[in-house]
Order: sequence, then structure tokens, then C-alpha cells
Amino acid sequence: MCGIIGYIGKKEAWPVLYKGLERLEYRGYDSAGIALLDKGTFSVYKKKGRVAELAKFEKEKKDNELSGGVGIAHTRWATHGVPSDRNAHPHLSNGGDIVIVHNGIIENYLSIKKVLIGKGYKFKSDTDTEVLANLIEDIKKNAKVAIDEAVRLALAQIVGAYAVLVLSKDEPGVMVVAKVGSPAIIGVGKGEFFVASDATPIVDHTKKVIYLGDGEMAVINTAKNGKLTLKIKTVGNKVIKNPYVHTLKTKIEELEKGGYPHFMLKEIFEQPESLRNTMRGRIVLEKGNVKFGGLEKFKKELKSLRRITIAGMGTARFTGLVGEYAFEELAGIPTKVEYGSEFTYRETVAHKNTGLLAISQSGETLDTLNAIKKAKSERMLTLGIVNVIGSSIAREVDAGIYNHVGPETAVASTKASTSQVLLQIMLAIYLGRMRGLSKKKGQEILKEILVLPNLVEKILKNANTIKKLAKKYKNYNNFFFLGRKYNAAAALEGALKLKECSYIHAEGCNSTELKHGPLSLIDKNFPTLVITPTDSIYEKSKSSIQEIKARGGLVIALTTEGNKELEKMADDVIYIPKTLEMLYPILAFVPMQLLAYYIAVERGNDVDKPRNLAKSVTVE
Ligand code: G6P
Repeated sequence: MCGIIGYIGKKEAWPVLYKGLERLEYRGYDSAGIALLDKGTFSVYKKKGRVAELAKFEKEKKDNELSGGVGIAHTRWATHGVPSDRNAHPHLSNGGDIVIVHNGIIENYLSIKKVLIGKGYKFKSDTDTEVLANLIEDIKKNAKVAIDEAVRLALAQIVGAYAVLVLSKDEPGVMVVAKVGSPAIIGVGKGEFFVASDATPIVDHTKKVIYLGDGEMAVINTAKNGKLTLKIKTVGNKVIKNPYVHTLKTKIEELEKGGYPHFMLKEIFEQPESLRNTMRGRIVLEKGNVKFGGLEKFKKELKSLRRITIAGMGTARFTGLVGEYAFEELAGIPTKVEYGSEFTYRETVAHKNTGLLAISQSGETLDTLNAIKKAKSERMLTLGIVNVIGSSIAREVDAGIYNHVGPETAVASTKASTSQVLLQIMLAIYLGRMRGLSKKKGQEILKEILVLPNLVEKILKNANTIKKLAKKYKNYNNFFFLGRKYNAAAALEGALKLKECSYIHAEGCNSTELKHGPLSLIDKNFPTLVITPTDSIYEKSKSSIQEIKARGGLVIALTTEGNKELEKMADDVIYIPKTLEMLYPILAFVPMQLLAYYIAVERGNDVDKPRNLAKSVTVE
């Protein structure tokens, strides 16, 4: 899980690549590097650590008097070989002819490495990528072919996932990019081309992009008159004529922090707007129904759906647990939730008319992508709820719904998660209306959905209350989050948010489970946040608070506005506005996000990029 970027054109490549790497850092940030090609020489600058470490090379670069308009760069998240200077990309081949950056995993690299070692190749790093660099050099030398053909022949031998960018010293006007499994986008500028893992480094320069498909490679060539040409073909050597050029709509300010100290806080505060964008144009109140453009063509299949399997990882999976209840309650469709990875590798029963709903913010989570591939092989209908347009999952599923919440940069998911819950409830209404859910019931829920953004606004206005709580609770080492029914999933998500941002051990648990074990952990040093809105289960949830208090534990109760009763029982109370039972998780997520955020800030953590975590997990 890495970010790659390449530039070829008349500008200085370094600043384009450096800025681009900063944008891609969310994909991984344990080391970074840039390779420039100028005057027939490669200069490679790479370092363990954040992209900012590369700024140290500015002087060296100047002293070398090397610049040039061709370069490739990489921000890494280690898979083969520990994070280190020597394992950082770009990687040079033995003879120094090839330089390469790579996102993905080459599964058969060891057997290829063995052959190359037999031929006398020496390896400076532990990476699979360096093997590919040498393989390309070896083919180029022995088959006496041009760089693009050498890349093509090398890739034909590769098993695994990759997005690679390759330069050859001998052909300084040529850049080759190819992909299988990992993303690669080509930005088409005026007399210049950009290649990147996603659009974030490209939007500054051009809005015209081409999404490279799996098994495709693009060759950017400099003609004799200096003009750049682009040719796309498959690794199987089939030319792709007139590739579709998309126009990006992403605004650059969407990508910046917009005045907030961290992306996470910005994204939490964007939720009223992101929820509005999620439902925009999709709610048909008069009919008590919902419309999804992306599902139109599949109405027949959706009508005959008998079961749903939801696949996702992390936060996305937790939101699926809310979806599970909604699909059963509103549409009467038996639903189960799976880790994408488990679904892929365990024996599953492929019932007729079972649909797989993949949920992923990034659209790149490999575990979820693999689950879709397996479902397709079993002829299941595959659906997606995805935020990143044109991402791998978005393109892999038969039909999908986009979140439309804009780029989410902080590693901890916030605005995408509330949108994922909302879309699943809307989808449950849509599927329910095909199956006997009354128009009146549909309207009832949709009316409440329409005011949700205002309710979230109200919660955000009280952010300071949560900030104060964060100061009080910042030094505890353990935390429980409890909830029942729809809010059992919210408890899991609350715990995940706290642990990923603040590094406090936190557990989410269904309140009913408390007395079956977890209660033994409770003492005065183990606070519990109990999600207890005044819903159908309120009285029972209340007893969890009493059980904890009786054992000397601290309780933060998260309850509905106006319910003063808990002030006498709990140590602290957080209020959320009244809504329908199934919509409470959306409201409950928000104060828990704020609590995790403010505690993490209090503890001096790198909130947007928590240690050991990455936003987009494109490896198994
Ligand atoms: C990573 C992120 C989580 C996210 C999960 C799934 O673990 O750190 O925040 O929930 O991946 O990501 P996806 O992009 O598929 O929603």
C-alpha cells in the first residue's frame, strides 16, 4: 500500500513530484523517494520516514545541477523488507539502466530473484520491486527490445498486484506505467503527463484523466519534434484505441485542510454537508422511496435478491452491522456481515440470489476487493458502497452507490462512515419498497433522514463539551464502549476510533455481553461509554450503567436530549438529538469521533496519521 507518481513534461519534475507525494502520503508513509532523469543520468533521492525527509535533498540536488522534466516518485508502506533507506523506492536495476516505483505485491518474486541471482544479479534491497527492475533490465538487454516491450514481457512473468512506473536511462523521453490490482491514473496536461495512484496529485495541474484498467499499460513517448504521445495497450499486446478521458470534478480546496488543525477535525465537521451530499437527488419523499442511478439497470436482480452478504473491513464493516439490521427490518432480507478477507478464504455457501454488498471508503481495500472477485466467481450480484470514484472496487462491482462525501484524508474514517450507514438505510428502504414496505413507513423514515444533517450540526455546536471530557478522560489506559441493537455497531466503532487515534486500549461490546465476562475488568480505572438513547431498549441499557456503577466504574452516558434521568446515574452525559432508533448510530458516531479526536490531540498524537496505520490497505 503505497503511492506512486510520475511526471514527464517541460516543468521541473521535482516540485511536481514532491507536492504529489505529500498528497499521496495517506496511502503509506514509512519511506519516500524521487528519481529524476536528466542528461542521461538517474539521480535517486530516497529516505526512510515521511515525505518531508526528502526536503533534505534539495541542496544536494542543486549541487548536482540536475533537474529535468522526467521523474518518478513513491511513498511507501512496507510489505517486503522493513522500512529503511535501502528498501525505499525508487529502485535501480543492477546496470543502472532501469528505475522503477511500485505499489503492490509481486507474489512470485522469490523464484524470479533466484533465476536472476543465477545470472549474476546482485540485490541491494529486500524488496520484490528490485527484482522487477532487474528482470526488466535483463529482458531489455538480452531480447534487445525497447523499454515498453521489456516491461510488457517482464510483467507477463509476474504474479501479483502492481502499479508500476518505469524509466530507462537509454530512452529518456519514455515513461511506462502498468497495473493489475493496484490503481494508476494518467493526467493529461498540455504538453505534459502525470501518472499517480489517485487524482490528488494531479488536480493541481489538469482535470483530464484516464483510468488505466487492470492488465493495461501506457507508454508516454517523446516524438522527434518534442511532442509527447500516449499509447495504451494490454500486457497481452492489444492496442486500446481512444481511451476514455474523464473530467475530474474534485475541487482543490476540498483537498486542503480548510482552516482546521487536522484533516480529521475538518472531516468530522464536514458531516452535515457530507450527509446532505450523500442523500442529494436520491430521496423521493412523495413515493416514500429512494432512487439510485447506479442501480437502475439491476432492478430485476435486486427484486429477486434473497440474501445479502456485506463485506468490508475496519469501520466499513462496522457500518455493515447497522446495515444488517436495517436490511432485515425494512426489507426482510436475511443479511450477514463478513470480513472481506474471511469471505474470500473460507468455505461459503453460494445461495441462489445472494448479493454481495461491498463497503469501502477508498475502494482499494484488497480484502474487500478479493471478496467481490470471489462473489463474482460464484455468480453473485455484486454491489458497492464506495466513496472514491473510479477506484478499483467501484469498477469491479456490477452496480454501485457512491458516497459523494469528497476525499477523506485522515486515516480514521469519519464522514465516510456516517455516509455508509445512511446509504445502507436508504438502500434498505429501496429494497424494502420492492417487497412490501409501505409508502407511509418509507416516508416516515425519509422525513427523519432529511433532518439528520441539522441534527449533526447541533451535536457539532457542542463540540466544546466533548473537548472538556477529553481533558478529563485523556489519561485512562482502558475504555469500554457499550451499545445494543443498532448501537451495538456504534459501540464497536466508538472503540475503534479511540484506539486508532489515541492509542488507548478500547473495547466495543454489546451491552448484553457485559455480565458474561467483560464486567470483571471494571474498576475505577476503566471508564465506559454507554450508548443509551431513549429507544426501545432504553430500560435494559440503563441497567448496564447500574451494573458498572455498582462495581465502582466510571460511566459516560450518551443519551437523547431531554433525558435528564441519567445525570444522576452516570459520571458524565453526552446528549444527542432525538431520532429514529435505526438512525441513532449516525448521531452517536459524531460525539465519539470528537472524543477520540480531542483525546488524541491532548495526548500529542499524530491524529491524521496514527502510528502503524494507513488509510488505504491494498495488501492482504
Ligand atoms: C483501514 C483504515 C480504516 C478503514 C479500513 C477500511 O484500516 O485505517 O479507517 O475503515 O481501512 O477502509 P475502506 O477504504 O475499505 O473503507
